[in-house]
Amino acid sequence: MNSARHRRTSTARRLFAATAAVGGVTLAYAAGIERKRWTLRAAELPVLARDARPLRVLHISDLHMLPGHTSKQRWVASLAELEPDLVVNTGDNLSHAAAVPAVLRALGPLLNFPGLFIFGSNDYFGPKPKNPARYLFEREENRKLIHGPPLPWQDLRAAFMEHGWHDLTHARETLTVAGQRIVAAGVDDPHLHYDRYSEIAGKPDADAALRLGITHSPEPRVLDPFASDGYDLVLAGHTHGGQLRVPGFGALVTNCELDRSRARGASRWGADMWLHVSAGLGTSPFAPVRFACPPEASLLTLVPRGSTSSDEAGESRFNAGIGVR
Ligand SMILES: [Fe+2]
Repeated sequence: MNSARHRRTSTARRLFAATAAVGGVTLAYAAGIERKRWTLRAAELPVLARDARPLRVLHISDLHMLPGHTSKQRWVASLAELEPDLVVNTGDNLSHAAAVPAVLRALGPLLNFPGLFIFGSNDYFGPKPKNPARYLFEREENRKLIHGPPLPWQDLRAAFMEHGWHDLTHARETLTVAGQRIVAAGVDDPHLHYDRYSEIAGKPDADAALRLGITHSPEPRVLDPFASDGYDLVLAGHTHGGQLRVPGFGALVTNCELDRSRARGASRWGADMWLHVSAGLGTSPFAPVRFACPPEASLLTLVPRGSTSSDEAGESRFNAGIGVR
């Protein structure tokens, strides 16, 4: 081998080794550190009736619990110290048939507060390995749904309801939260095409302090009728905030028809409705990595319309990454 060719080969080897090392370190960080960087996000949303008093809502989503996820269980349980007025769980609690007790260890202290829930695909069916290239590059509508074995969502539902939480799967409820009347409604998981909005369609009580919609996956076909019926706010999960985000670019995918810019956090949907998407607290056990997207719960302070500058600006005030532990 002549010396010029030898130098080119050595340089290429060094570059390859450096790239592999950076990739390895990034993967180790995404799997070992960021995946457990439990984070509380805070946002203030001007969605209440003008004479209402502020409400503090804790939004939990996408636990994807395995029995051995003990630090997640401890952290989620500690959120009861926030003493929210209402807890909303937007689904994907389970990643294993034996994980119901673990989910209840995490949510146990929160079950003492008023709560609402709907389920997602990872409550009904266990996870299955997926081709990451198809996940990243294939359009949602072309992707085939792959189900694992059925999960014991009925046990979870029974435990939630025993503590007074409301199952909003194709149901509309009027309830009193912190002395104020709210109307809440939800649909079954749009990701599985289980949603039948027609079952809850109609204008909710115009005199309520809040009209709240919940759905696991924030599919536009569900958000649009919530907005046209006059809901103030819809809470959703499912996107995992993209799970792997590129700094300066954001989420690569939302795993649904929602645009990438709304993969995590609060945004307007139409003229009068707000959408809040939780980046969630878990991952599929077959892709246990997060990057620039720590697992999160969200504490939403709902305030009357017109009471913050963000109402006029059409932007939320969203403080990223407030770790409580
Ligand atoms: Fe999920």
